[in-house]
Amino acid sequence: MTLTRRRTLRLLGAGAVLLPAVGLGLPRLVASVTGAKTDTVGKVAFTNEVKAPPLAPSRIDGDGRRVFDLDIRAGRHEFVPGKPSPTWGVNGGYLGPTLRARRGESVLMRVSNGVGERTSLHWHGMHLPAVMDGGPHQMIEPGTTWSPTWKIDQPAASLWYHPHTHGKTAEHLYRGVAGMFLIDENGGGDSGGDDASGPLLRLPHRYGVDDIPLIVQDRRLTDGVLDLAEDMAGTTGFLGDQLLVNGVVGPYLAVTTERIRLRLLNGSNARVYHFHFADDRPFTLIGSDGGLLPAPHTTPRVELSPGERAEIVVEVEPGERLVLRSDEPSTGSGFVQHDGGSDRFDVLELRAAASLTPSPALPARLADLPRASAESATRTRTFELSEHHINGQQMRMDRIDFGVRKDSTEIWDVRSGDGTLHSFHVHDVQFRVLSVDGDRPPPELAGWKDTVFVPPGRTMRLVIRFADYSDPDVPYMFHCHMLYHEDQGMMGQFVVLGPGERPGSPPSRTVPSHEGHGS
Ligand code: C2O
Ligand code: CU
Ligand code: CU
Repeated sequence: MTLTRRRTLRLLGAGAVLLPAVGLGLPRLVASVTGAKTDTVGKVAFTNEVKAPPLAPSRIDGDGRRVFDLDIRAGRHEFVPGKPSPTWGVNGGYLGPTLRARRGESVLMRVSNGVGERTSLHWHGMHLPAVMDGGPHQMIEPGTTWSPTWKIDQPAASLWYHPHTHGKTAEHLYRGVAGMFLIDENGGGDSGGDDASGPLLRLPHRYGVDDIPLIVQDRRLTDGVLDLAEDMAGTTGFLGDQLLVNGVVGPYLAVTTERIRLRLLNGSNARVYHFHFADDRPFTLIGSDGGLLPAPHTTPRVELSPGERAEIVVEVEPGERLVLRSDEPSTGSGFVQHDGGSDRFDVLELRAAASLTPSPALPARLADLPRASAESATRTRTFELSEHHINGQQMRMDRIDFGVRKDSTEIWDVRSGDGTLHSFHVHDVQFRVLSVDGDRPPPELAGWKDTVFVPPGRTMRLVIRFADYSDPDVPYMFHCHMLYHEDQGMMGQFVVLGPGERPGSPPSRTVPSHEGHGS
């Protein structure tokens, strides 16, 4: 049984009581009957050490491509010692290894599906041909291997990968299929090459030592077993009552350097995190989804909706213990109600060694970004996210919603029209935020983004350039990254068109009949 299915049954069962409120629309109706608050602040014993996920081994093939073997499989993972839970993972029980490649390199991914039902692996944040994207049109049948290849050509960044099976993304990701995909600049720098002297080298960059990806997810465990029932679902989908970092419950991270770089990924189904330290100390935000910010930004807080990433650098004192927390998301104006909206969590404890290795001071400038500008935009589109629809339409695998021109720039205005929180993601591109409700974006939104938090009543104006790849038939997705919304159809498809091309139709063999699966 799937996350969404069991939830639907429960709602139907409750229908008699709730029918009078149906005019409010389903999401708000559900919000009105849930509302237990989860608060783990001060209650988490940080007893389990968390480390950076392992780096995936790779090899170079005869064509000079970096080859990764990724095996999506069902397995077991001990969230609670001695109580193994059934899980899914990549090359392991839960989550997957960190992939790492340089700008300019070509990669070949060999992705095999061992979970007994069709799934996919999507490279979130990657600029690549649509047919390599791993979205719902690139399903991997059970027992088969999919081998996409492309050339990495984008700035150093913390991207990630996860399944994208239409109607099942929430479940597949919840079971544990996800991992980081780090891009390094060509010619040294981020991964410790010694032939560059740019700002990257002055940032903490020793993987697993002072440079640690942290995949933050909320889950519910029943006697140590990953609980797939969605009892806490409401407006947003699954909300768990425990936080996992890299699959570890009650995590602490040993810190051995004065400064540590944390690459935070919100890998949750529905939850928005508002991270801060227990003592509210400022830290330095250095990067967003698609790469480094133009300059470091000092702040005590950073907010991430599902799918978003932030790179931060934290300074610690010898011997101290410091707790990373999360509290209520900012909710914009016109807020109706949000399940889990007042939840608070202890996320992770940083444990600094009694003596710390010195870290260099952070550079004053990080990256040269083009000015975000509407000047070259040739068209404006509006996206209203509301009640599992975008502009009143639900995702259809066989409908391409629009085509954009290759080498063109567009403005996309995105807003939440239903009083709840959303997270808007576009495949293939890294965009810039031009304005938030007409104002200049805050510093945390000054860099490259592929996913953006959309609170109620707020209009995010994005400027997006489409370049390099076109295909009139194979679409890229745009969607809400709250996975229940996405699975319910808050998603659409666009194609990038070459000169003279018109939108075609997606190859029909790629249309999965997800309705018939998993029951
Ligand atoms: Cu993170 Cu369409 O995906
Ligand atoms: Cu994506
Ligand atoms: Cu949404």
